[in-house]
Amino acid sequence: MTLVIAIDGPAAAGKGTLSRRIAEEYGFHHLDTGLTYRATAKALLDAGLPLDDEGVAEKVAREVELAGLDRSVLSAHSIGEAASKIAVMPAVRRALVEAQRAFSRKEPGTVLDGRDIGTVVCPDAAVKLYVTASPGVRAKRRYDEIVAGGGTADYAAIFEDVKKRDERDMGRADSPLEPAEDAHLLDTSEMSIEAAFQAAKTLIDAALKENI
Ligand code: DC
Repeated sequence: MTLVIAIDGPAAAGKGTLSRRIAEEYGFHHLDTGLTYRATAKALLDAGLPLDDEGVAEKVAREVELAGLDRSVLSAHSIGEAASKIAVMPAVRRALVEAQRAFSRKEPGTVLDGRDIGTVVCPDAAVKLYVTASPGVRAKRRYDEIVAGGGTADYAAIFEDVKKRDERDMGRADSPLEPAEDAHLLDTSEMSIEAAFQAAKTLIDAALKENI
């Protein structure tokens, strides 16, 4: 049986690092579902297609190859913004959720991270985590990341951006970002990624025991 771990939460809460760490520890396949929305958005932008035509966006979403997704080519801020916009379209979500569900069945286990994994994509996941942190902490992490990478950043602009993205992701009608009823909340505002990983490991080890 495949063990599915669902990790949801807002942008820059630490889900990505935590998910990769968990997948490595257990030898599970990992899918960052944000990349599926980003790849769709980038394909539309590259082809000069509109971001507000649901039929066109759905067609492009159905052509996204999960195997070739690479955050380094999809990380641009403009792509994240465009992804958040097309993510409100039900037809786009249906297309991408189908592909994500197929991925989640890979043996021996999978870790999927995103916004609606525990609520919509994999409601039967063995372990559900909702990873969050205050907007200020998330903006600071993003700021530090850019500066560490040699770039220049404007903290106030990043903070506004984080809040705007939260509003869009939490406020949309289809699959808004919210914790599943049975999700374990991990607030990483004052918790290191290592501490979050240990908390997650305890939950996953218990689920693995139950599944033997
Ligand atoms: O996690 P990210 O920044 O790469 O995600 C980009 C956008 O994609 C995010 O603002 C909302 C959307 N998204 C979504 O709607 N559902 C998911 N499961 C993952 C991402």
